[in-house]
Amino acid sequence: MTAVAWPAVQSVPSEMTGVVFREFGGPEVLKPESMPVPEPGPGDVLVRVGAVSVGRLLDIVARSGKHPYATFQFPHVLGAEHAGTVAAVGPGVDGVSVGDRVAVFPVVVPADDEMVLAGFGELASSVAIIGTHRQGAYAQYSRVPAANLLPVTADIDPVEAVSVALAGGVAMNQFDRAGGVGPGTRVIVQGATSALGSTTALLAKHLGADVIVTSRHESKRERLRELGFTHVLDAIDGDFPDRVREAFGGKGAQVIVDNLGAPLIWEHGFEVLAPGGTVVSSGAFLGHQVPINLQRLYSLGQRVVGVRSSNLNSAKKAWGEVSAGFRSVVDRTFSLTDAAAAHQYVESGGNVGRVALTVD
Ligand SMILES: NC(=O)c1ccc[n+]([C@@H]2O[C@H](COP(=O)([O-])OP(=O)(O)OC[C@H]3O[C@@H](n4cnc5c(N)ncnc54)[C@H](OP(=O)(O)O)[C@@H]3O)[C@@H](O)[C@H]2O)c1
Repeated sequence: MTAVAWPAVQSVPSEMTGVVFREFGGPEVLKPESMPVPEPGPGDVLVRVGAVSVGRLLDIVARSGKHPYATFQFPHVLGAEHAGTVAAVGPGVDGVSVGDRVAVFPVVVPADDEMVLAGFGELASSVAIIGTHRQGAYAQYSRVPAANLLPVTADIDPVEAVSVALAGGVAMNQFDRAGGVGPGTRVIVQGATSALGSTTALLAKHLGADVIVTSRHESKRERLRELGFTHVLDAIDGDFPDRVREAFGGKGAQVIVDNLGAPLIWEHGFEVLAPGGTVVSSGAFLGHQVPINLQRLYSLGQRVVGVRSSNLNSAKKAWGEVSAGFRSVVDRTFSLTDAAAAHQYVESGGNVGRVALTVD
């Protein structure tokens, strides 16, 4: 994919193009409109957006009106993790300058919350996600807290930055909460074609883990092989447990990442979870109930860990791995005004990796 340029910043206009929706519905409710450029308040910066992600929960599910913990005030602008160039700086902001290349971590929390201070920022008593609880970045400019910026080096383009900005931190948080992933850790990532799953699998591989990735479709499994994975399976297959033991030299998985919530995939995973192993989940868009054999769980000293999302520390830690060569995968980009087509594409389930809008 051709690298996308970082947007140049000159004088900030008073009006911009953004993509708005005024009612829940299909992709067609997303409409480009002219709107005022926001003013950065104290502690804020104005970002000239270069790229913004289109994900399942925060975009597709939210637009359809089925987001489980969001209420929208219409008209609303979606757009969570994004990247761009700082165009203006609000009062009281230090260490950020106009022209800086930045990725925006979209989870905004109060700095003095006890869970934030304890290192569990994603569990703060009030969490505001950019593009969900406040106006987002399907627009030429976004107003965001300076505290949520992650500096980006010139060798990364805005779309690559978007593919790591949230998912990289979620993956890192999942690994940390599972007890750590490093050289030789036996990891299974279910649904490894998804935007989050592909990032998780690539980060595990980058950290030296022995990784099994899964997808239901041969064409998508082929793409996973092209990305360098050698153990590529279909988790729905009845022989999945045997194939896992074959790949792991007769042993089970120490960490299984399952963000799907499909009972059969969950059960197949649990069958091959090693003693002391952990299943970690940060999503369950296919269903909220899965079976657990408690006798097996306690006898084998296993754990199931829920990880709500990333926090700023895990995002920064993931970004440290970007400096060490870690990259996620971008499937396809659409222009901002084709947001409806991008939603249709993600909904069709054909992507392997991140789908993003680019903003001229
Ligand atoms: N907590 C967080 O911060 C956070 C952030 C991002 C995502 N998530 C969660 O992660 C999950 C994936 O989201 P995403 O945006 O990355 O997804 P995505 O890119 O839309 O990918 C969807 C994934 O679901 C799999 N899938 C779809 N239908 C399936 C079915 N019937 N049975 C089995 N697998 C099926 C697909 O696998 P195939 O290859 O088999 O088609 C694909 O891997 C969601 O639960 C989402 O809420 C959480």
